[in-house]
Amino acid sequence: AKNVGILAMEIYFPPTCIQQEVLEAHDGASKGKYTIGLGQDCMAFCSEVEDVISMSMTAVVSLLEKYGVDPKQIGRLEVGSETVLDKSKSIKTFLMPVFEKCGNSDIEGVDSSNACYGGTAALFNCVNWVESSSWDGRYGLVVCTDSAVYAEGPARPTGGAAAIAMLIGPNAPIAFESKLRASHMAHAYDFYKPDLASEYPVVDGKLSQTCYLMALDACYKGFCQKYEKQERKQFSVSDADYVVFHSPYNKLVQKSFARLIFNDFVRNASYIDEAAKEKLSPFSSLTNDESYQSRDLEKASQQVAKPFYDAKVQPSTLIPKQVGNMYTASLYAAFASLIHNKGNTLAGQRVILFSYGSGLTSTMFSLRFTEGEHPFSLSNIVTVMNVAEKLKSRHELAPEKFVDLMQLMEHRYGGKDFVTNKDISLLAPGTYYLTEVDSKYRRFYAKK
Ligand code: ACO
Repeated sequence: AKNVGILAMEIYFPPTCIQQEVLEAHDGASKGKYTIGLGQDCMAFCSEVEDVISMSMTAVVSLLEKYGVDPKQIGRLEVGSETVLDKSKSIKTFLMPVFEKCGNSDIEGVDSSNACYGGTAALFNCVNWVESSSWDGRYGLVVCTDSAVYAEGPARPTGGAAAIAMLIGPNAPIAFESKLRASHMAHAYDFYKPDLASEYPVVDGKLSQTCYLMALDACYKGFCQKYEKQERKQFSVSDADYVVFHSPYNKLVQKSFARLIFNDFVRNASYIDEAAKEKLSPFSSLTNDESYQSRDLEKASQQVAKPFYDAKVQPSTLIPKQVGNMYTASLYAAFASLIHNKGNTLAGQRVILFSYGSGLTSTMFSLRFTEGEHPFSLSNIVTVMNVAEKLKSRHELAPEKFVDLMQLMEHRYGGKDFVTNKDISLLAPGTYYLTEVDSKYRRFYAKK
């Protein structure tokens, strides 16, 4: 199979959201902390009728319908998620009724999990399958789904929720440059979920930022080495038209891209001009450890990076700023933003993606665009995802309502024997929702 990659995409996020400006005031945080300090605009969250399973169902069924894909044509289904609703039964199995109904139960794949990285693992599994000798000619389907919720405190505004479905096959408008892929995996306690009775993570915010940046450096170094070995010339950010990051909050994306520019300065990349060299040279003698702590370096490199950020990164920031951290879906929501904003103009261009999951696992990889052919074309992906309309038709909740809901969900997590609120008026037609968890913890869903 040639040009294996992403043929089609669909994104779903809950219609319930809260403005960061409103949450900031409610939390008693200083004005601008969430909006400028974290760089976030708005945050989506699941109401009591939605969860990672219902969101996945909505995204998968919508993708199959809107691109006219017969469920029999799916040969592998992989889910990436870190939201645990069951410690044994995979989210994938909850999606099987969609396929069983059409007589297709011959579908490989289960769930992958490691913090925000599971979606990337799922995606690689599908791409590798299509490129392998066990491929049977059918499509792979990847689902990234999470509900990111934090306990009250500084991490709470970095929540979010979404599901993204991606169809994988040959001759894709978004094809993998499979040889250009570098990973960095290590043991760290930056963010983890050891309390099985709680949906909330234990998080060391500062450590998680440093781990993220160290992983970025390591992946970029490996990526450049692989590129240079293959192409026999130096790689730098100027060889990528766009760079897309896992986006816990926008400020970290700004810092991450600036870090790549600093890397390029240290590596003597030819696009770094004299003015930039002058700004960055005071930091060239810092040790690696010092460089992660230096506020002055952060400022200087963000300044140098600004025009490049506006061109290469900003187009991918829309959905993560509006919806929040979607964990496994976050990187792909950033990627979806890029496609939404740039559409067909992406044809012929290269994008570098950076995936990070705490704990920690990370990969940098490369994709190439072509226009594609209907229904698997860039312009049709933009039409189907309909991002602007989905963002516009959301409902803002008051902070008191949001806090009440978080409390209800805390109480319900791991629980049984309840029916959900019958009010589904905020959901768009076609949305799946949770109706009941019975006395044996079995979950039931319906479609609006
Ligand atoms: N106006 C403008 N900026 C402000 C204001 C204000 N009024 N107040 C604070 N700020 C800035 C700070 O200077 C800081 O920016 P800087 O980093 O450029 O200096 C930023 O806002 C955040 O403020 P802090 O006090 O540093 O942050 P805090 O300790 O409150 O929490 C954190 C932020 C650590 C990101 C927290 O939200 C968190 O733990 N989130 C979850 C962890 C996470 O997402 N990690 C990322 C990788 S792992 C993953 O993906 C889950």
